[in-house]
Amino acid sequence: MSTQRNILLLGGSGFIGTRLAFALANRGWRVTVPSRRPHRHRALLVHPGIRLLEGNITDADKLRELCAGQQAVINLVGILHERRKGDFRRYHVEFIKAVVDACGEAGIRRLLHVSALGADQATGSSLYLRSKGEGENLLHTFGQRELQVTSFQPSVVFGKQDNFVNQFAGILRWYAGLFPLACPDSKLQPVYVGDLVEKIVTAIDDPDSHSKRYQVCGPEVFTLRQILELIIDTLHLPVRVLPLGKGLSRLQAVVLQILPGKLFTMDNYRSLQTDNVCKDCEPCETSLRQYLPGLAAMFGNKRHYDQFRKNYPSIDGTEDHS
Ligand SMILES: NC(=O)c1ccc[n+]([C@@H]2O[C@H](COP(=O)([O-])OP(=O)(O)OC[C@H]3O[C@@H](n4cnc5c(N)ncnc54)[C@H](OP(=O)(O)O)[C@@H]3O)[C@@H](O)[C@H]2O)c1
Repeated sequence: MSTQRNILLLGGSGFIGTRLAFALANRGWRVTVPSRRPHRHRALLVHPGIRLLEGNITDADKLRELCAGQQAVINLVGILHERRKGDFRRYHVEFIKAVVDACGEAGIRRLLHVSALGADQATGSSLYLRSKGEGENLLHTFGQRELQVTSFQPSVVFGKQDNFVNQFAGILRWYAGLFPLACPDSKLQPVYVGDLVEKIVTAIDDPDSHSKRYQVCGPEVFTLRQILELIIDTLHLPVRVLPLGKGLSRLQAVVLQILPGKLFTMDNYRSLQTDNVCKDCEPCETSLRQYLPGLAAMFGNKRHYDQFRKNYPSIDGTEDHS
């Protein structure tokens, strides 16, 4: 009889989910990843332990169907801005209720959930943080009796294909002169995606993690301005940060949120009003400073790339954790 266990990754085609899918499959789990657009995530199929399916998981019948036969579920579905009013509630709160119900019907006993640092239903500074907090509370209130739940609250996550360092690097390399930066003094404690993934994978079979909510941070606190300056230095770009005060930061958010792509919204601005740093948690190992030299390979010019290759053996933790 096969001892292979099945796990469903909701949001498994995203930045963190993809890394998690490979890490789980490498440890022998049979991983199912549903996606609305599976053709964009075919790279997952290189691992025979990963099954990529088409489907909208916000459809309750589809969710029930996906949960059948699974031993555990990990939920990573999350959005940073609303396309339609009410999306934060829909994806961060109501969807969690649907997942808990589907787990109950399928007899699943283990549910792990990726929330966000600063998530707080009552005091979160943005709709994003309050809705994440509400979803987490709901999970930990209703998911108790038969379902063992664990939540992770990461600070901003970096790694190949993140929407943070790579997004800034992608914009800055086309820039010259002064770069106007909103909320330059906001504090963040970036965590490496491989470290977060390791924590999640380890927790699945750890009974001590049941009912717990873990903050997950990297080893160093940076201001947003320091992070941008590190990126600029690493890539030797002809750019200087122009720090914006509160009024201009808000104005930038108001303008950018109506442009396609919504690079920065008023809700993002409000999230950045709370320092995104951990209290009382053991920080993860990998620093942003270790990761940044690898950016030269993706965004730098040929000279920086050659330099990076020459130094590569001495640079640890740039994308090789799982
Ligand atoms: N990245 C960070 O820095 C960070 C920091 C703190 C917390 N988090 C939390 O960690 C979780 C994963 O983050 P991530 O950066 O990996 O996210 P991501 O790359 O944006 O991936 C989001 C995933 O959700 C899925 N999804 C399903 N239905 C969706 C819908 N209706 N709208 C949007 N997405 C939908 C997407 O699948 P398809 O598009 O394939 O269907 C995708 O796989 C999120 O809950 C996020 O809030 C992330």
